[in-house]
Amino acid sequence: MYSSLKGKHLLTTQDWTLEELERLLAVADRLKQERQLGIYHDQILRAKTFFMLFFEESTRTRNAFEAGIHQLGGHAHFLTPKATQIDHGETAKETVQVLSRYGEGLGIRKTYGPGHAYMREIAKWSSIPVVNMQCEDYHPTQVLADIMTIKEKFQNNLRGRRIVVSWTSAPNYIRPLSMAHSLVLAMPRFGLDVTLAHPKEFSLKPEIMDAARKNAQLAGTKFEVVDSMEAACDGADIVYAKGWGPIMHTEDEAEGIKIIDSYRENGCMDWVVDKHKMDLAKRDSIYMHCMPFDRGVEVTDEVVDGPHSVVIDEAENRLHIMKAIMACTMAGL
Ligand code: CP
Repeated sequence: MYSSLKGKHLLTTQDWTLEELERLLAVADRLKQERQLGIYHDQILRAKTFFMLFFEESTRTRNAFEAGIHQLGGHAHFLTPKATQIDHGETAKETVQVLSRYGEGLGIRKTYGPGHAYMREIAKWSSIPVVNMQCEDYHPTQVLADIMTIKEKFQNNLRGRRIVVSWTSAPNYIRPLSMAHSLVLAMPRFGLDVTLAHPKEFSLKPEIMDAARKNAQLAGTKFEVVDSMEAACDGADIVYAKGWGPIMHTEDEAEGIKIIDSYRENGCMDWVVDKHKMDLAKRDSIYMHCMPFDRGVEVTDEVVDGPHSVVIDEAENRLHIMKAIMACTMAGL
């Protein structure tokens, strides 16, 4: 039975059925194609407001929502804790009860601390749809753009193809697990086999791994974990590699950064996507990254600027996915 997506929160793809996710992807695809034909969509969210509450910085997420709602005829309102009374202790409940009276949608990025619990609390008191713009565990708007990109690149023919979700030794700070979690959870549901590759200190959360394996089992897809990026890339269709912190291994930030750096010692390339690894993958394989990436550290220039790379198409699809999310959850398109 067809049920409207109007008013539905998007906190993780796990909360949505496959049919609902496919419907959203179809809307994104239509909006993308019609925009290319010069068709305007500025009546869909006419005079509607989407609040964007960012606890951290963003290039893609903020600007895709902002440009997206402009194209749909509405307005995006940028908020930070400092620009509101949140920094003075205003609770999630009061914040969203008030914003619900002013606008029709709310996105939140809170990647550190209890971001997901904060979003669940907001959603509990909200009378408008709440979108997770990234928390410590999930990044649903990014993974939906990733699925859209993979479908486009492989003409919607995903079953039997294999995605590598690999760790890289990204420097300077502890990145969240949200992207790796979102990929291993969502990709099996769309028929992809998954190879997760990481050194021993970089395990994902056990409850996420259990859910990912269950998704794979239900979808009839393969799911494996290996400790070598090189082995994972052999025969792969998709190489998606980015850094995350040793969060399940240590809570000490300095120790975490030391462990990350140890995998780049003496010019070690084991956890860098380079030409050698892409040569091991299939000839028509694609290289993906949610961006921003560390050039020469996570991926070589040769790969990220080369023929396998789809990172800019992937970033563009954030726009179409954000528009579909707002159109479906705020207007019931
Ligand atoms: N991929 C992604 O979420 O990018 P931003 O951090 O720039 O939003």
